[in-house]
Amino acid sequence: MVSSLPKNQRMSVNKEVKRVTTHVLQAMKEKEEKIAMLTAYDFSMARITDAAGIDVILVGDSASNVMAGHETTLPITLDQMIYHASSVIRAVKRALVVVDLPFGTYQGNSRAALDSAIRIMKESGAHAVKMEGGQEIEESVRRVLSAGIPVMGHLGLIPQSIYKFGTYTVRAREEAEARKLMDDAKLLQGLGCFGIVLEKIPAKLATDVSKHLDIPTIGIGAGAGTDGQVLVTHDLLGLTQDFHPRFLRRYLDLFTTIQGAIQSYISDVKAIDFPNEDEQY
Ligand code: KIV
Repeated sequence: MVSSLPKNQRMSVNKEVKRVTTHVLQAMKEKEEKIAMLTAYDFSMARITDAAGIDVILVGDSASNVMAGHETTLPITLDQMIYHASSVIRAVKRALVVVDLPFGTYQGNSRAALDSAIRIMKESGAHAVKMEGGQEIEESVRRVLSAGIPVMGHLGLIPQSIYKFGTYTVRAREEAEARKLMDDAKLLQGLGCFGIVLEKIPAKLATDVSKHLDIPTIGIGAGAGTDGQVLVTHDLLGLTQDFHPRFLRRYLDLFTTIQGAIQSYISDVKAIDFPNEDEQY
């Protein structure tokens, strides 16, 4: 479904905030003001997204799917994430920029986690990193935090572990998994994470977790009870075509719009209509 609200029904952006920090996000949770987060992987999209007033930009490892065409997020490398993150950072004036630590750069090795996070912060200028998992990556989270690097957690559907779970279906429907998710969320908060993404879990569980935590939760496919929402910008704009999860609201159909513009250009070139007299020297 393509949807967009008329201008007079849109919530205004908090223009008083000059630069969104982790402390601003915490204050937003306390004031019950929802946090809006979107992905960006390049300068142009980051500039538009930041100018629109987004609170958080995630340089997600979904770049592996969206930008590189891989089936999963596993192949993307640390160097590639740093390239995407530095392009985004050059565009952003207001939003907090969070960068995913890619698969294989932090799991099971806290020293590697620290080195990877330091490279992201030093070489891209990003403001925080995101890591998938709970108790399994406790040591890595602890070590990255010990260097003064803000960490966002990510629980529920964690795409870097897709081969462990086998499917992209809703997580934590069963009581044991839901209990583990709640424990992991409390653990991440206790370690010092500044927020947690909750992906594709039942809305009731996401609401419970959000109420139990003092730090903000950001949901994707987790209902309206989280402290904020995140989507992949290319999905929201309809630039991607073959992805139709129930949680996705498409605000535009840019695939068709852009395809139409490119077809017009092709016709104009073939008909020797472009360039015209005014479009040459
Ligand atoms: O990589 C990504 O885009 C993400 C979001 C879907 C939360 O992790």
